[in-house]
Amino acid sequence: MPDPGEGLDVGDVVTAEVGAVAHGGHCVARHEGQVLFVRHALPGEEVRAAVTEVGGGGRFVRADAVEVLVPSPDRVVAPCPWAGPGLCGGCDWQHATLEAQRTLKAQVVAEQLRRIGGLTEEQVGALVTGCEPVPGDREGLRWRTRVELAVTAGDDGRVPGLRVHRSHHVLPVDDCLIAADGVVATGVLGRPVPAGVVGLDVVAPGTGSPVVVPLGRPDGHGPGGRRARRRGRGRRPAPVPLGPVPTVTERVDGHDFTLSARGFWQVHPGAAATFSDQVLAWLDPQPGERALDLYAGVGLFAVPLAERVGVSGTVVAVEADAEAATSAGRHLAPYPWARAVAAPAERALADVAAAGERADVVVLDPPRTGAGPQVVASVAGLGPRAVVYVACDPAALARDVAAAREVGLELVGLRVLDAFPMPHHVECLALLRPATS
Ligand SMILES: C[S@@+](CC[C@H](N)C(=O)[O-])C[C@H]1O[C@@H](n2cnc3c(N)ncnc32)[C@H](O)[C@@H]1O
Repeated sequence: MPDPGEGLDVGDVVTAEVGAVAHGGHCVARHEGQVLFVRHALPGEEVRAAVTEVGGGGRFVRADAVEVLVPSPDRVVAPCPWAGPGLCGGCDWQHATLEAQRTLKAQVVAEQLRRIGGLTEEQVGALVTGCEPVPGDREGLRWRTRVELAVTAGDDGRVPGLRVHRSHHVLPVDDCLIAADGVVATGVLGRPVPAGVVGLDVVAPGTGSPVVVPLGRPDGHGPGGRRARRRGRGRRPAPVPLGPVPTVTERVDGHDFTLSARGFWQVHPGAAATFSDQVLAWLDPQPGERALDLYAGVGLFAVPLAERVGVSGTVVAVEADAEAATSAGRHLAPYPWARAVAAPAERALADVAAAGERADVVVLDPPRTGAGPQVVASVAGLGPRAVVYVACDPAALARDVAAAREVGLELVGLRVLDAFPMPHHVECLALLRPATS
């Protein structure tokens, strides 16, 4: 029991009326002026919430709903036995119907666009019409084609597992219900791993056999060690492959993309084609146009753009990761009017602007941190007639939408896609055009 008048502390359990959903897979509740971010709850419920963490110097706490006193009509029994308070950190919404999960995701996007993006209620209402399923999962399960497993460190036989929410603790699991069939078919779940293996990257590509990449601790030398130090800055270093990493091939709309098994590719089997089709539909690239694909990966969007603009057009695909940029260059080789540039978007944009080049259409598909106001301003400076922003974080998108408005680009189209059913993540595809007045 918390002391009256004192702030809540870890381990305190309080009764809370659960309010609206918030970005991050939790709902907001209040207790004596303190904000609680409650996981495993749903809006409208009354729960017993156990405090797991105190944040913001006591301004808010994180908590888990450990008992539901008044359930929401949207509540279901989580299909996965490892989803729940203190258990796997992978899924946030297993206790909600899929329909409710999508409603919550649309509400989060709307709230971010209002609060951070500065859009009016009316604009948000017109743009956010719901969150759509992406074809290729089974009722929100069996979709994740890329899974990074950790390994238990204790005396329990060193088996693969998944991390507990906001913890380094590894929970051994012998199935993951959102993992694609191909991932499970590798048989690695539940099977002990050899000494020195601290993780496994498991990939079930769209073509060919699934791949398992054993990971170990970086020795601090060589390219793996450097990359690991960068990725793990401030935390324990990220694991690195223990041997050569195989390639995998993904197919989208008749195009093959071959990439490192550890390279970036959309994890939902229907996502790449859904996004690519929408990007092309919105940009409607014309023969002779100049297209810029920023954060291009291995060329998912650059290749069909190259096809559309044809020999009289140009495509520049910008990708910071050298290995991915090399793959993009290979995929663009049949289109000599298209090229891949291995550089950060910020630097490539400065070079493009310095050369006095312009762009008719632009794709932005940044990592979770978003493109940022500087990149958005540089893009606007190229005078595009249409920009499609592919966003995996609605807060970063909202910030960049606000920045875009400052430089004359307006958000005119939005699709909210459930490319990550069960976790709280959501993908947004946004169309920006020059303001007409
Ligand atoms: C969300 S992925 C999108 C990749 C690709 N568009 C796709 O859908 O397959 C983001 C990509 O941005 C790259 N990246 C990260 N920071 C970057 C930067 N500053 N400039 C350019 N690319 C960057 C990452 O290596 C990654 O390939």
